[in-house]
Amino acid sequence: MPTPLLAPSLLAGDHANLAASAARVGQLGIPWLHLDIMDGHFVPNLTFGPETLAALRRAGSKLFFDTHLMLSEPHRYVEPFAKAGANLISIHIEPAYDHAGTLARIRALGCQAGIVLNPDTPADAVAHLLDQVDLVLVMTVQPGFGGQAFRPGMLPKLRQLAAWRRERGHTWRLEVDGGIDLANLPDCHAAGADTFVAGTSFFRSPDQAGFAATVARLA
Ligand code: DX5
Ligand code: ZN
Repeated sequence: MPTPLLAPSLLAGDHANLAASAARVGQLGIPWLHLDIMDGHFVPNLTFGPETLAALRRAGSKLFFDTHLMLSEPHRYVEPFAKAGANLISIHIEPAYDHAGTLARIRALGCQAGIVLNPDTPADAVAHLLDQVDLVLVMTVQPGFGGQAFRPGMLPKLRQLAAWRRERGHTWRLEVDGGIDLANLPDCHAAGADTFVAGTSFFRSPDQAGFAATVARLA
């Protein structure tokens, strides 16, 4: 299993000062930042686009940009996000487009590639892509909004994916996203997850350093 990592979600940061929220993550020694990109179509909400990533880079952020595209047509946008400074680009399996081709394109652009499953999507849906990814993201809420309750029903899906990873000798990260906090994070870890997106619980935590230390101690 890869080293456990916390990926604070900027969605829960200060949208009037995203650079400051990103800088806070860097100051705590957390290497990853999760960036939620929504199109008002695949999900009923809007966030920000490639220009925001580019602006965060210009503001000096050296964080690993873990970019979660919640878009109906993600294949149209991977290049602008790669050029804007994304390090990893994750695309959902649910919309119809060339998934394998888009994952290959993400890698050809010099980024790591991830595949994402909504809560109602079974692990089987991505089985044919598991040798072409650097990360598998299991949504533990319906995507679109921060601050929702974690769905414990996703734990068996994590166990299934972790078992395939073991059996097939894969090295991709297994990430969870949605309602993750210090109470359910150990359950996700025990089920095989190693990468933990935390929006509300992290940015509202009175002890962000302690939060990061708890994840580091899972190793
Ligand atoms: C939800 C996004 C999440 C969101 C998580 O659609 O994909 O990354 O920021 O926020 P919390 O941790 O508050 O559930
Ligand atoms: Zn996300």
